[in-house]
Amino acid sequence: MTATAAERAAMTHALEIARRGPRGLNPQVGAVILSPAGDVLAEGWHRGAGTPHAEVDALSKLTPAELRGATAVVTLEPCNHAGRTGPCAQALIDAGVARVVYALDDPGLVSGGGAERMRAAGIDVEAGEQADAAHALIDDWLTVQRLGRPHVTVKWAQSLDGRAAAADGSSQWITGPDARADVHRRRAAADAIVVGTGTVLADDPALTARDGDALMPHQPIPVVIGTRETPADAAVRRHPHEPLFYAGHDLGAVLAELRERGVQRVFVEGGPTLASAFLAAGLVDDVLAYLAPVLLGGPRLALTDIGVASIGEARRLTVTEWLPLGEDLLAIARPAAPDSAPDAATGPAVERIAHAATAPAAENTSRNEGDA
Ligand SMILES: NC(=O)c1ccc[n+]([C@@H]2O[C@H](COP(=O)([O-])OP(=O)(O)OC[C@H]3O[C@@H](n4cnc5c(N)ncnc54)[C@H](OP(=O)(O)O)[C@@H]3O)[C@@H](O)[C@H]2O)c1
Repeated sequence: MTATAAERAAMTHALEIARRGPRGLNPQVGAVILSPAGDVLAEGWHRGAGTPHAEVDALSKLTPAELRGATAVVTLEPCNHAGRTGPCAQALIDAGVARVVYALDDPGLVSGGGAERMRAAGIDVEAGEQADAAHALIDDWLTVQRLGRPHVTVKWAQSLDGRAAAADGSSQWITGPDARADVHRRRAAADAIVVGTGTVLADDPALTARDGDALMPHQPIPVVIGTRETPADAAVRRHPHEPLFYAGHDLGAVLAELRERGVQRVFVEGGPTLASAFLAAGLVDDVLAYLAPVLLGGPRLALTDIGVASIGEARRLTVTEWLPLGEDLLAIARPAAPDSAPDAATGPAVERIAHAATAPAAENTSRNEGDA
């Protein structure tokens, strides 16, 4: 049986209320309980580590009589592991619900397996309803669970002929104001913003998220990777967060250290060298390519060597959105073959030459262990 119209509507609503929860080390999850006739009985959402999970929040609003034979619609597979709130799969079994519809499997080694537990107890379980929307909602949390590293988005702006800068190296501004405003909104949703020394030396970027001239409430931690010195008067040194400087090229080690600091979402805004290095290393989850209706010619391509020698090795992408922004066009895409965890054999860890503890220390992000 596939989801009914009432269950589909409930999932859409569950995805909306999931957003009321904080973005953080635990995933945003929403739940709606339906009567056997398909009427909404209760809703719940997760309010962050240490608080009840969405299903338990919704269940707590109903009497045992109301719950018997009900359907629970949840954006993430009910967990199978006891944190502070106990396994949600067992709570649903104990409540006597007849059916559970969820969007995404829980990839957590510890917390996954709730569906099996519920099926074994005789509950009718349906997986995959609106999985894409649920994935987009918690993609950073999923990456951390699956790969043990932060979610990496690589962004660049390019001319229609594929250049990231003019022949003299100038690249401000290839795109128009709408596209630039879009970049700032996405910066504000990231935990860290990463560039190479080449961009710092060429453009002296502030690496802040701004709305016009005003700083947005959330600022990503600025991170500069490369062996060259960042000038003492560089704009990035005036960022509200003290920048992190990594004197090396080991991107896996940088991501591992950022993860240790609690960073889940990394926004790479470097030039062609750094963007290509992330792609070549297989450390990219999303690509944002802003295409501007301008021709630059010359040698400064948006990407350099990404390890593709022949068309058979082309890195295929799946475009999830084409977004018009003024005269520009944003392509949002992800690798058709998912990228990887940091390679343990990528060499010695980079030498960190300066840092500040600007992000919360990493916790175990299994949503259940994080609650414990
Ligand atoms: N269109 C756009 O979206 C955009 C965005 C940013 C910049 N730009 C333009 O891009 C140009 C700068 O390009 P770029 O490629 O030099 O900038 P970049 O990619 O930001 O910086 C390159 C530097 O990063 C360091 N690095 C760190 N990890 C590395 C790794 N794994 N592999 C290789 N190098 C690594 C190296 O510095 P060390 O030698 O110090 O070790 C390297 O020279 C400028 O013209 C700028 O205006 C365009």
